[in-house]
Amino acid sequence: AEALRVGIAGLGTVGASVARVLGDKAAELTRQCGRDIVVTAVSARDPKRDRGVDLGSATWFDDAVKMAEKADIDVFVELIGGDEGPALASVKAALGAGRHVVTANKALLAKHGVQLAEIAEKKGVLLNYEAAVAGGIPVIKTMREAMAGNSVTRVFGILNGTCNYILTRMEAEGISFDACLKDAQRLGYAEADPTFDIEGHDTAHKLSILTSLAFGTKIAANDIYMEGISNISQADIRAAGDLGYRIKLLGVAQRTDSGIEQRVHPTMVPTASVIAQVHGVTNAVAIETDILGELLLSGPGAGGNATASAVIGDIADIAKSRPGFQHGPVFGRPAKELKPYKKAQ
Ligand code: NDP
Ligand code: HSE
Repeated sequence: AEALRVGIAGLGTVGASVARVLGDKAAELTRQCGRDIVVTAVSARDPKRDRGVDLGSATWFDDAVKMAEKADIDVFVELIGGDEGPALASVKAALGAGRHVVTANKALLAKHGVQLAEIAEKKGVLLNYEAAVAGGIPVIKTMREAMAGNSVTRVFGILNGTCNYILTRMEAEGISFDACLKDAQRLGYAEADPTFDIEGHDTAHKLSILTSLAFGTKIAANDIYMEGISNISQADIRAAGDLGYRIKLLGVAQRTDSGIEQRVHPTMVPTASVIAQVHGVTNAVAIETDILGELLLSGPGAGGNATASAVIGDIADIAKSRPGFQHGPVFGRPAKELKPYKKAQ
């Protein structure tokens, strides 16, 4: 079979890791997919920066949109970030040109996912986004593929590695909030603007995607009640501990009598509970359904390699897919909402 040609836009924490792993694991991926996966084009802002990765003979593009439109690629991998600007323009251009897209960009999907899914479905190409929710945990594939027929009653979890890393270290080592956040940034966990992490936006973006898959509704990130962790102090953490609780930033979506409730806020969870044992950059997603019962997935929620693992899984799926095969809907979205959303009080 012909090689799958990949273009990577964005060569930061995630993009450079994806390029590196695609090179290091080329033979293993060829064995698994039955064809080579080759990076033929890349784009970032600074062409001179040493990214510690051999980009081989990939063609450099200063302009990600031009790469999406003109490069010799089958798959456009968007790892730029941001919910407008070059990320949105390049993904639209790639889908419009009939190329498959892989993205880790939950902010983009939370805002424009429905529109982008419609273009992908019309063009008969894939829009894969496993890395957009809970880093390396394969929760999207689990919900889209492995849970067919289940009706979800609740999905909740720790969806932001930066916040869980901060809360864990504040409790375990008594380190200040600001020092923990700086370390999370240094380790490549935080968003370009870390306000998105600590004020709950990133968790809300991820939750909105999970809600759509769980309940078959349109993505509605603006309907989420949201509170972050920036006001959590050492005193709060100690007080919770004295009462037998640990503070976690949770995203929760559940079916209620008045609609699907979506909320993000710091939550006191019993110290002995499984969710309280999720430490550091680890994420966890709990899914409750009628057939399966309770499922808990946990694993690395942020960082270059963990996220690259999910991105490469999405690329490999495309390498293995049959041309012309019609794929199912990208997100859940019936013609009408099941019930109106209701903000939690
Ligand atoms: P970085 O800030 O490390 O990297 C962003 C990259 O985008 C840089 O290489 C930058 O170029 C490039 N870039 C910026 N503007 C443009 C442009 N106009 N055209 C082409 N390239 C551009 O971000 P991350 O790698 O951390 O994150 C990337 C995406 O992955 C985001 O959507 C993020 O939310 C998501 N994500 C990140 C995770 C993580 O753990 N870091 C985990 C899961 C998802 P240059 O290097 O030249 O400045
Ligand atoms: N900033 C995000 C986090 C990256 O800390 O979870 C992974 O989506």
